[in-house]
Amino acid sequence: MTEHEPGNDGRLPCTAKVPYGGDYNPEQWPRDVQDDDHRLFTQAGVDTLTVGVFSWSVMQPAEDVYDFTVLDGILDRAAAEGRQVCLATATAAVPPWLAKKYPEVNRTDFEGRRHRYGQRHNFCPSSHAYRRLSTALAARLAERYAHHPALLAWHINNEYGGSCYCNVCTQAFRGWLRERHGTLDALNDAWCTTFWSHRFTDWDEVEPPSVLTEHWRGPDHTAFQGITLDYQRFMTDALLGCFTAEKDAIRLYDPDTPVTTNLMGAYRPIDYHRWAPHLDFASWDNYPPLDAPPTRPALAHDLMRGLKDGAPFWLMEQTPSTTACRDVNPLRRPGELRLATWQAIAHGADAVLYFQMRASRGACEKYHGAVIGHAGRDDTRVFTEVAHLGAELGRLGAITLGARTPARTALLFDWESWWALEISDGPSRLIRYPDVVHAYYRAAREAGADVDVVPVTADLTSYDVVLAPVLHLVKGDLATRLEAVARRGGTVLATFLTARCDQHDRAFLADVPGPLAPLMGIRVDEWDARPKDVVQPVRLGELTAQAGLLFEIVRLRGAEAVAVYGADFYAGTPAVTRNRFGPDGGEGWYVATALDRPGVDHVVRRVLARHALVGPYADHRAVETATRVAPDGACLFFLLNHGSTSTDVAVHAAARDLLTGKRLDQGDVLTLDPLGVAVLVLQ
Ligand code: GLA
Ligand code: ZN
Repeated sequence: MTEHEPGNDGRLPCTAKVPYGGDYNPEQWPRDVQDDDHRLFTQAGVDTLTVGVFSWSVMQPAEDVYDFTVLDGILDRAAAEGRQVCLATATAAVPPWLAKKYPEVNRTDFEGRRHRYGQRHNFCPSSHAYRRLSTALAARLAERYAHHPALLAWHINNEYGGSCYCNVCTQAFRGWLRERHGTLDALNDAWCTTFWSHRFTDWDEVEPPSVLTEHWRGPDHTAFQGITLDYQRFMTDALLGCFTAEKDAIRLYDPDTPVTTNLMGAYRPIDYHRWAPHLDFASWDNYPPLDAPPTRPALAHDLMRGLKDGAPFWLMEQTPSTTACRDVNPLRRPGELRLATWQAIAHGADAVLYFQMRASRGACEKYHGAVIGHAGRDDTRVFTEVAHLGAELGRLGAITLGARTPARTALLFDWESWWALEISDGPSRLIRYPDVVHAYYRAAREAGADVDVVPVTADLTSYDVVLAPVLHLVKGDLATRLEAVARRGGTVLATFLTARCDQHDRAFLADVPGPLAPLMGIRVDEWDARPKDVVQPVRLGELTAQAGLLFEIVRLRGAEAVAVYGADFYAGTPAVTRNRFGPDGGEGWYVATALDRPGVDHVVRRVLARHALVGPYADHRAVETATRVAPDGACLFFLLNHGSTSTDVAVHAAARDLLTGKRLDQGDVLTLDPLGVAVLVLQ
């Protein structure tokens, strides 16, 4: 990885309103189509275009030939029409000549097969030829367009992802390990290599963990979790190295324009927390499966907002109507696009962009939803909805820009715990990290709490409640910082399989939950994993919840039982515990089993209630709320009705509805239409 000065936190492009538009690839169509496009953009309130994402082969048809004629035309046209451009460096899909001339650029997959030219996102991140040619292109683009009046932001590459297992990566991995571990003794110690006679005596003996080496069945089945974890970290850094190299190239010519790359939310292969310091601002592509509850995209928004310490992010892509890559690609129903867009803004999006502005004519995305379809019409349902939203965002102006979420609840999200949990042999392959995290996030959000989804290194001093679901690895001084939350009266909630291992996935040589045992006031000696259909009752006050998947057997060491198991040989032993900690009434809560949704809701609401964090609309199940505080102090309160019927709510404070202009007194009834939205400025 190259040395790189991290960007300033949350340095966003400066705009007068929420940038609105999306991916635009006019190089794929005849020239005269651009006239229609721009007329339609104006009609739809589109002011921002992401251009050049996949145009490497157009801009550089041969190694020594650059041709920017087409891109010049696109940027000049955008500027002439008063639009701004998010300019991509075009390095996510290499041109055929490059792969032919430098075959090392093609990736080697997990099965050890060297790929040939095809598709996109297809470059080996360690390839010297790729690094040289991608940075050369980025530099040329920066040299040419740094001072272009249309330039608003840089968009490096596109959706970095995947991994490579080639010989160049193997060498680079060995170098990365030397830097991380220093000596072979340290490496052997970290990876527990005495197990199965793996003690390494030379760095060159180390192989990337693939199906040819440590793995069987696939990427989740490894003989050595420590090796696989390090490869994930290495790949994260290798891809990040591609990003920072391009950013450095841009900075040679353009010291100021903010730089980003479009991330993918809760995307397992890349630890975005390692990337965050290098982005000037975060941006991401939101394509939730249509059957996902609204808290799934909400969690991803909050995770992305957490990358830059709570600064707003850009919604870089969403489809206006349908995706194309799934087996079945349903339409967004009337009103769903608007609701999803306001949800993004409610969670911190300061830009709203689509993939794509016009449908491509051929290849695998020709049926992907677009603002403008193949016929170029302005009277389709989708175009009409997009245009209405454009007008609405135009009226909104600048008020949401730079606004922050004043959350007092934090949820710790840790990619390394995700990896460690899901590559673990035992206790259960049925426990999936995002599902458990989502269960606790959803309970807090549906209770009306704003939640910051933060890395384990985040400053926790401003939170009353910290949720740590399935936080398998506890690293550094985290246990001390969690204790500090409870010492000043806060509540920390942890679940089963939290605090089991250190950063190398080595079990703590102590009672479970390792360094969190004092805060939780418990000890766990045994755990019973069961198939999905084995559930048992857990009584929580008036409620009988169901528990499943894993039953940790808890002994109280200072904590009290909040709920006990109802069946099996551990019937009557604690399933949920609470431990008073510190002089100011702080508490450590431990949930030793996978409770069903009512069970998680009950526990999380009790924790939130201790700190008066259950929101005023918590009983309106379909209504999501979120708060943002604008730089001028204005408090924006979003109400989003995810239900298909209208809902009346009595407003909790005097406010003005930004979208209708109506004034409301405390207690006035506000009717939210099906899929309706209100943005209140609290008075
Ligand atoms: C991703 C990519 C786009 C496009 C869309 C389709 O987000 O970045 O280029 O392929 O998916 O949904
Ligand atoms: Zn490689």
